[in-house]
Amino acid sequence: MLPISDKPSSEPTAKPKTPVLDRKNSFNTLLKPYLSRSWLFISIFLLQILLLFMARSLPNSSTSISTQHQHFASPIAPSPSSSPIKTHCTFGKVFIYDLPPMFNYELVQNCDDLNPWTSRCEALSNHGYGRRATGLSEIIPENLTNAWYWTDQFALELIFHNRMKNYRCRTLEPESATAFYIPFYAGLAVGKYLWSDNSTGKDRDRHCEMMLKWVQNQPYWNRSNGWDHFISMGRITWDFRRSKDRDWGSRCIYLPGMRNITRLLIERNSWDYFDIGVPYPSGFHPSSSSDVKQWQHFVRTRHRKTLYCFAGATRGFIKNDFRGLLLSQCFSESDSCRVVDCGGSKCSNGTSAILETFLDSDFCLQPRGDSFTRRSIFDCMVAGSIPVFFWNRTAYYQYEWFLPGEPGSYSVYIDRNDVKNGKSIKGVLKKISREEVRKMREKVIDYLPNIVYGKTSEGLEGIRDAFDVAVEGVLSRVKEQEETGYKWRNWKNVELAGLPIIILMLRMKKSEVLFLERTEKQ
Ligand SMILES: *[C@@H]1O[C@H](CO)[C@@H](O)[C@H](O)[C@H]1NC(C)=O
Ligand SMILES: *[C@@H]1O[C@H](CO)[C@@H](O)[C@H](O)[C@H]1NC(C)=O
Ligand SMILES: *[C@@H]1O[C@H](CO)[C@@H](O)[C@H](O)[C@H]1NC(C)=O
Ligand SMILES: *[C@@H]1O[C@H](CO)[C@@H](O)[C@H](O)[C@H]1NC(C)=O
Ligand SMILES: *[C@@H]1O[C@H](CO)[C@@H](O)[C@H](O)[C@H]1NC(C)=O
Ligand SMILES: *[C@@H]1O[C@H](CO)[C@@H](O)[C@H](O)[C@H]1NC(C)=O
Repeated sequence: MLPISDKPSSEPTAKPKTPVLDRKNSFNTLLKPYLSRSWLFISIFLLQILLLFMARSLPNSSTSISTQHQHFASPIAPSPSSSPIKTHCTFGKVFIYDLPPMFNYELVQNCDDLNPWTSRCEALSNHGYGRRATGLSEIIPENLTNAWYWTDQFALELIFHNRMKNYRCRTLEPESATAFYIPFYAGLAVGKYLWSDNSTGKDRDRHCEMMLKWVQNQPYWNRSNGWDHFISMGRITWDFRRSKDRDWGSRCIYLPGMRNITRLLIERNSWDYFDIGVPYPSGFHPSSSSDVKQWQHFVRTRHRKTLYCFAGATRGFIKNDFRGLLLSQCFSESDSCRVVDCGGSKCSNGTSAILETFLDSDFCLQPRGDSFTRRSIFDCMVAGSIPVFFWNRTAYYQYEWFLPGEPGSYSVYIDRNDVKNGKSIKGVLKKISREEVRKMREKVIDYLPNIVYGKTSEGLEGIRDAFDVAVEGVLSRVKEQEETGYKWRNWKNVELAGLPIIILMLRMKKSEVLFLERTEKQ
């Protein structure tokens, strides 16, 4: 492996139009600081050979090579869920491991003990959907109030597992499975230890280590060394990437056995092929396609009084914090901007104020928070409001399977540095024509089913929700790996020949992550 410098010079370019260019660009920027020029030439040369090799080994080279390149992003093009759903299991079937209960059910049973301050029992109730939402009857159509819950943002593992148990393409025979789902609640397992000072690295890794040991002892692990295995993890990826013993989080993703397992996470490391970003659970859980259509109609025809809004904590911002800047702009434009103060834990217990504000606004501001993503992105879009992003990694390099490919079609991007230099957000948003706003909102509404988790045992008739999109994505990716031989064994020679790019992109260490965060922050 190459030495990793502490001061790389530039942010990796993320996602230009053509995938081939994309890769090369990111290779260049990623590697420049680490490589001497000759290494770079050799690497690029090898890369060309590799590309040629892949092109030749595929039946239809011109089209398949471009699919091949989307591997780091998305194997399936996202589409609005109104496109017809396949009734047969064309993507293959999923087998669920019957894990010992300590990895899932027992964690939920001990919900009183999962974090140091409060019980998580209510948050995890109702198969992870949480408590039924109250106080919404004034705001939304009466017969849709049943589809709303005060869902916890970290409840993905439960919701996912529960849906999977009833998935129409589940199989009970491992021989016939295309993919293997590991129903381990990794986020719940580590949550308990994240904030306690006296917990050791061992505490935080124990469940994950034991789970991997268990899974690797199963007969079907050997079939592909984990390549056809996947897991859902209900916290952000950085909570599972501890490199030093005293640092934050568990080391779960860095454990050797985790290497080839696809991870569905609410925030991914955008440079790791095995991390897939999936939507945070929001509060809307339709149980039928008619719920979805009614809701789409409701948000489409909603009269919106405010140009834009911001929901977040308003206290405790340090002066130069970016969110502080947004807030002060919002406060000084109070005729066109609305703030929901979520300071303390005011919004964590569910509040109708957020939903109402999003329903009333054309746009919602979505700066990064402690990490790149926020649950609020989905709360906003579910309400048919158009998100405004300031970091590409807040959504564009996160949820590629779920959101439209063209960022400008459903969202507004404003460079954070322009805002720091005094650019008026209102100015930017006011310039967008009403017709343009209507089109963008229509796009958000089209994709809405893709970002909600239905509360249904077998899916929403004829409509794909976030769960379906995620699982079909995993299945089709496993198939592609099989068909195109996209696996380590075929890359090994390249790796040995001194092209650790793949590794570099797949497995970033904390120092690199911090560097990326620094550069994105600037
Ligand atoms: C809910 O109300 C709308 C409008 O009043 C109606 O069209 C729809 O059929 C109702 N849906 C259900 C499930 O009752
Ligand atoms: C940490 O300290 C608390 C109380 O100080 C104790 O109850 C708990 O068992 C300790 N945890 C560990 C892992 O030692
Ligand atoms: C999987 O393969 C390894 C190494 O070849 C072997 O030691 C192990 O017993 C196999 N496990 C199963 C369950 O077949
Ligand atoms: C990951 O996959 C590669 C290639 O199939 C294999 O060589 C390696 O042993 C796998 N890693 C683990 C931990 O199974
Ligand atoms: C949250 O809601 C529950 C259930 O209604 C209530 O018992 C609890 O006190 C609330 N917590 C806060 C912090 O408001
Ligand atoms: C971020 O995304 C916007 C909109 O797609 C694009 O114009 C811009 O170049 C991207 N910035 C970076 C640093 O990739």
